[in-house]
Amino acid sequence: MSDFDKMLDCRAAEAEDIIKSFLPAEEGYQKKVIEAMNYSVMAGGKRIRPVLMLEMFKIFSGKDKDLVAPFAAAIEMIHTYSLVHDDLPAMDNDEYRRGRKTTHVVYGAGMATLAGDGLLNYAYETALKVFLCKTNTDPFDGDISDRRAKALEILARKAGIYGMVGGQCADIEAEGKAAAASEELIFIHENKTAAMLESSMMIGAILAGADKKALDDIEQAARKIGVAFQIQDDVLDVTGDEAELGKPIGSDEKNEKTTYVTLHGLEESKEEVRKLSDEAASILSKYDGSEEFLIPLVKWMISRQK
Ligand code: IPE
Ligand code: IPE
Ligand code: MG
Ligand code: MG
Ligand code: MG
Repeated sequence: MSDFDKMLDCRAAEAEDIIKSFLPAEEGYQKKVIEAMNYSVMAGGKRIRPVLMLEMFKIFSGKDKDLVAPFAAAIEMIHTYSLVHDDLPAMDNDEYRRGRKTTHVVYGAGMATLAGDGLLNYAYETALKVFLCKTNTDPFDGDISDRRAKALEILARKAGIYGMVGGQCADIEAEGKAAAASEELIFIHENKTAAMLESSMMIGAILAGADKKALDDIEQAARKIGVAFQIQDDVLDVTGDEAELGKPIGSDEKNEKTTYVTLHGLEESKEEVRKLSDEAASILSKYDGSEEFLIPLVKWMISRQK
């Protein structure tokens, strides 16, 4: 195992511990939906979003991890909800995710719909816990409550109609179109995938005290990372290995999706992934500490096989 792989495992384990610590107890008459929520979250997953958030918090010298922890858990809850709904029969209709049966296969479509709703709402219940944390110890310049409010605003906006939900809408509308415009495809990738990565990275930096100029850089870099990440996801849908990916290959073809691969072919797609992540790395490289893990992570995201 390379040093980078060890570091990634360690960061993902840290993120997972945080996520676990915020999961709801499986009890009461709503026990079933909570079980379905926890089943989906704890199925595994790379934990890229909370890992990126925690790393940005570190790079911008964030000190009190109690501030970022609720957001790290919340972003993974929102991401997991998006996967649960994405897999539903009414959407991509997939039966395998994170190496397990999808939530609707195990719990039924109704309960999976509710589990997604539950996770989305619980994400905000969780993020709001940031207002319970002690923040009097030397934190940041500026008004701490403003930072938490700004982080919440980004969390909500980038997951919604001006972010992930908007992208999923365009993704469905482009189904079956032989040649959706490449402008439309960029919209889909920037919204369904990049928006949640922008949110992850910006929130980590905001909570640590990053200024507007840095946030603009981070948003721009994260957009490139996100588009590259989705193109790589589309490539793996064709060339990947189901056991390693933990989800089915050929899902896009089955659903007649327009992807970067259908529009530009595999080779051009791989080239675009490289180009975008190089551009992202060069934006991030001016921030001290980014060479240690952040930039290697961006590079890993494009060569990943899972
Ligand atoms: C899958 O995201 C959906 C996309 C946006 C491509 P990930 O590849 O991060 O999935 P997990 O969280 O590791 O399962
Ligand atoms: C979905 O893209 C991205 C989400 C917002 C969930 P895909 O439909 O390609 O994701 P996978 O391949 O099912 O993970
Ligand atoms: Mg989809
Ligand atoms: Mg899908
Ligand atoms: Mg996919």
